[in-house]
Amino acid sequence: MAVEPLSTLQTSPDVKQNRQNRLNALTEEIKQLKKERNAVILAHLYERLEVQNIADHVGDSLGLSQVAAKTDADVIVFCGVHFMAETAKLLSPQKKVFLGNANAGCPMADMITREDLVEFKAQYPGVPVVAYVNTTAEVKAESDVCCTSANAVNVVKALNVPRILCVPDMHLAKYIQSQVPEVEVIWWNGFCPTHLRMQPEDVIDLKKQYPEAMVLAHPECDDPIKDLADFIGSTTKIRETAMKSTKRVFIVCTEDGVRARLSEDCPDKLFLTPTRACAVCPNMKLTRLENIRNVLRDMEGEILIPEDIAVKARRTLDMMMAIDG
Ligand code: 13P
Ligand code: SF4
Repeated sequence: MAVEPLSTLQTSPDVKQNRQNRLNALTEEIKQLKKERNAVILAHLYERLEVQNIADHVGDSLGLSQVAAKTDADVIVFCGVHFMAETAKLLSPQKKVFLGNANAGCPMADMITREDLVEFKAQYPGVPVVAYVNTTAEVKAESDVCCTSANAVNVVKALNVPRILCVPDMHLAKYIQSQVPEVEVIWWNGFCPTHLRMQPEDVIDLKKQYPEAMVLAHPECDDPIKDLADFIGSTTKIRETAMKSTKRVFIVCTEDGVRARLSEDCPDKLFLTPTRACAVCPNMKLTRLENIRNVLRDMEGEILIPEDIAVKARRTLDMMMAIDG
């Protein structure tokens, strides 16, 4: 019996149509449940496109935190990773907050525990701790101020101190150090496994093919990638820069969701990721429309933070927002 090639099966119009019908039905169900619950859906730019497309707000960690702080919805469904939903809960404590998929964590955030930070601080008494938003609420509670990739440099400048401890991302810390040389930045050795999979050789190869391309990089990339970049910024800033630019080709050095978003936003431009790398954050791809429907329907897995931790962690976010939010 002749076996149909896999490629034929994958692209068959029936399969595509069935998938589209299923997505349309789920979208309708989610819209209805959202109304009934008075819910808002927030999606990070690394989420699957179908998740971004159903969200009320799409953005970077800072932008979504700002929305979470201001929303008058009763329920927040955060399609992102655990620290993002925790941040939304800290900034909007009276709301019910859920993760789109309760299993979505951030390996970088897990690279430092509260106990680690207590020991780190003991080695540098009196030196303020700047915690990247990619941390648990417990770690934030042991810190002095929070920052995101969008405002880290401004937050550190505003502190006006000679030294800081920066946790957990050493690559963001190195970037801050390069932008604020008057401050000594002492960092924790955490990193993002997704951003570190990108190699400078891959960017150089793409640049050979497209010499006119603009290179956009997230601060979580390693220095050799950032050294090749024309622009370094948060996911939203990368998106805005590419959308406004008159250039036609872009090498996007961050998680693949940003490339996918931009390809849909600007179909007349070409967006490439450094080729040999798999620039996908598996946790950010865990949330599917089914998960969002289930969360809105069942309201299970609410994010809850013990009050003593929440009070201290919230202070670090409030301070960040007061400086640059
Ligand atoms: P942004 O704050 O730029 O959205 O980045 C969050 C993140 O997790 C990057 O890996
Ligand atoms: Fe964490 Fe990296 Fe995924 Fe961002 S891309 S959520 S830092 S693992």
